[in-house]
Amino acid sequence: MTQLPQPRPGILDIAPYIGGEAKAPGTTRQIRLASNEGALGTAPSVASALHDYASDPHRYPDGSALALRQALAKLHGLDADRIVCGAGSDELLQMLAKAYAGPGDEVISSQHGFLIYPIAAKAAGATPVEVAAAKTLGADLDAIARRVTANTRIIFLANPNNPTGTMFGQQEVEQLLGKLPSNVLLVLDNAYAEYVDRADYPHGFDLVDRFPNLVVTRTFSKIYALAGLRLGWCYASGPVADVLNRVRGPFNISQAAIVCGVAAVEDQAFIQRSVAHNSEWRAWTTSELGKLGLAVMPSQGNFVLVDFRSIGAERVRQALKSQGILVRQMNAYGLPDYLRITIGTGDEMREVVEALRNILRQAA
Ligand SMILES: Cc1ncc(COP(=O)(O)O)c(C=O)c1O
Repeated sequence: MTQLPQPRPGILDIAPYIGGEAKAPGTTRQIRLASNEGALGTAPSVASALHDYASDPHRYPDGSALALRQALAKLHGLDADRIVCGAGSDELLQMLAKAYAGPGDEVISSQHGFLIYPIAAKAAGATPVEVAAAKTLGADLDAIARRVTANTRIIFLANPNNPTGTMFGQQEVEQLLGKLPSNVLLVLDNAYAEYVDRADYPHGFDLVDRFPNLVVTRTFSKIYALAGLRLGWCYASGPVADVLNRVRGPFNISQAAIVCGVAAVEDQAFIQRSVAHNSEWRAWTTSELGKLGLAVMPSQGNFVLVDFRSIGAERVRQALKSQGILVRQMNAYGLPDYLRITIGTGDEMREVVEALRNILRQAA
C-alpha cells in the first residue's frame, strides 16, 4: 500500500475554522450580520485608491509596507520600526504561535475566546489550554495568571472579546502583566478597539514600551471595513518585531492592501462616522431586543451576543436565514444557546429586530 505524506502530529486534530455564512439561499434579501464586518461598507476614499492602483498589479508590493507602517505610526504616535503588517491579524496570530510555541509548549486562551487561538497553537504543534471564563463570560485574568506554568509560552486574549463583547480594563491588564514571567508572550488582540466607549480601555501601545513580552494586534477588517483585502498589523517590542520580520513571507501583504490601508488610515472622518454609527445602533439594538424580553450581553464591539435559550437559538437562526438574515451560530464557542448579531446599517437592524419580534410572537 502506498504511504501518503503525513502532517506533523496534531495537525489533523485541528477542526477547520468555519467563517460566518455569506449567502442565504432561496431569497433575494441578503442581510449579512454573521461576520462582524464594517457596517458602512467601503469608504469612497479607499475605493478610489483601489481604482487608482488598478494598473499596477504586475509589480511586486513593497515587502516592508513602509508607507502603511508610517501612516499607522503617525496616527497612533508609534515607532514605525516596531509595526509589523500581516494578511489580516489572523496571519500575525499564526506567525506568533509558530515563532514562539512548539511541541511541549502551552498556549493559553479563555473559554469563549476567539477560535483562531487554539487553532494557531495546534498548527504550531503546541498544546492549547483553555481557562474557564468568568461569570460574565469574559476572560478571568486571575485564573489565567494562576494557570501559567513553566511550559506556558503565549497567552492570547481578545479585548473586547469576540463573541462575548466583554472587556477588561487598563488596571486588570497591568496586573496580569505584572504577574507574568517575562518569557511568556501576552498577545492582546484588539481587533475591536475602535468600537470601545469605556474610558479605561487598554490600547496597550504604552504597555508594549514597558513590557517587551506584550504584543498588540489590530485589524483593518472591522472599523476600517477592509475584511476582503486581508490586512492587519501589530505593535511589538524590537526583538519580537525582529522575529516576526524573519518568519513572515517577504511579500505577505499585497500592494492593493497597502494602498487601501494608507487611504483608510488617512480618512479618519470615515472612522469617526463608523464609530458614531456603531454606538448609536448597538445601543438601539440592545434596547429593542431587551424590550422583546431577550437578554443581550453588554457589548464593546460591533456585535451583540443574545441569549435565545427560551426558544432555541438554532431555531431562531434558521428562521432568520429563511428570511435572508444571516447571524452567527455560537456552538463552536461553547455558547449554543446564543446567537451573535453584527451591528449593520440602521435599516438592517430595524429589519432584524422586526423579524425577531415576529419569530418570538409566532413561537408564543
Ligand atoms: C477577536 C478577533 N481577532 C482577530 C480577528 C481576525 O481578523 P482579521 O480579519 O484581521 O484576520 C477577528 C475576526 O473576526 C476577531 O474577531
